[in-house]
Amino acid sequence: MTIRSARATAHSNIALVKYWGKRDGADPALNLPAVGSLSMTLDELRSVTELHADTADRFVLDDVMLTGKPATKVFAHLDLMWRRSGWPSARPPCRVVSTNHLPTAAGLASSASGFAALTVAAAGAFGLATKLGDANDPVRGVLSALARQGSGSAARSLWGGFVRLDAGSDDQGRDCIARPIQPRDHWPLKLLVVHTARGAKAIASTGGMESSRLTSPYYPAWVETSPADLDAAEQALAQRQLALLGEVMEHSCFKMHACMLATRPPLVYWNGTSLEVIRAVWLARERGLAGWVTSDAGPHVKVLCDAGQATELARVLAAVPGVHEVQAVAPGPDASLELL
Ligand code: PMV
Repeated sequence: MTIRSARATAHSNIALVKYWGKRDGADPALNLPAVGSLSMTLDELRSVTELHADTADRFVLDDVMLTGKPATKVFAHLDLMWRRSGWPSARPPCRVVSTNHLPTAAGLASSASGFAALTVAAAGAFGLATKLGDANDPVRGVLSALARQGSGSAARSLWGGFVRLDAGSDDQGRDCIARPIQPRDHWPLKLLVVHTARGAKAIASTGGMESSRLTSPYYPAWVETSPADLDAAEQALAQRQLALLGEVMEHSCFKMHACMLATRPPLVYWNGTSLEVIRAVWLARERGLAGWVTSDAGPHVKVLCDAGQATELARVLAAVPGVHEVQAVAPGPDASLELL
């Protein structure tokens, strides 16, 4: 088998209803989430990954050759993709060249777009897929489950628009596959990505969520109440009810952060500016500029709003001391594959 050169593009996504924690007792390699999640895929914020045959394994991210843990994770994922492509021999060496059009490892979901793009590129290079059809193409579901094994949120980046990932109950994770629930043109929403810090985040999400599972007294309540949030959000999204969607989105975010804060030792992903931005969003809302906040395992704040109010709200948030940048992002497209 010769490896074909392939290029994949996958867009990042932000969960409007969050996942945090892996399923109890499940095989860690399957990376099964304890709760489902619902996300918006982001236009502009994306990873572009090329895979080529080479004389040794090499991983180049944003023009820098990486070794150690990031490279180990990438090549372990390629091994999985190689086995799943049905090749009995050992995987030939590969060069992975990836460009993140977003800040890497800063709580802006670079692992989502990164593992989704790697999964799609490997599927092309190893002959598991020669093309990716539209949102209904069943290959996307197969690749979503494989991407999940690299990073939970990556399972959602196979599709554009709005995507739901159910936790499922099958012990092999066969029903833990993301699926598109609304296309990107369903609703002209914007997500304002408010950058409150520069550089990589302090605590990686995988370790963080495992300590929450083991030590946070709020973790069981988090797991138990999540399905209702998912259903409420899916319905609000279908009916284009922004205030309802915003309310459940904020609730899911603060419930996750409460669970994080009650972890031992505590997980505090926000900085002072994050809190000032949250307060500024709430103040603006009282004054008729309607935005709702969410944030992940990092200090940045994302604000969901109607596209018609995005420019004005972005201007207000850019003026909060400590804010570096505000990016207004629309719902993004499906992941794509090119054989080179
Ligand atoms: O599986 P990871 O490392 O991509 O974890 C993502 C966890 C959150 O971003 C906090 C929530 C989510 O559902 O994206």
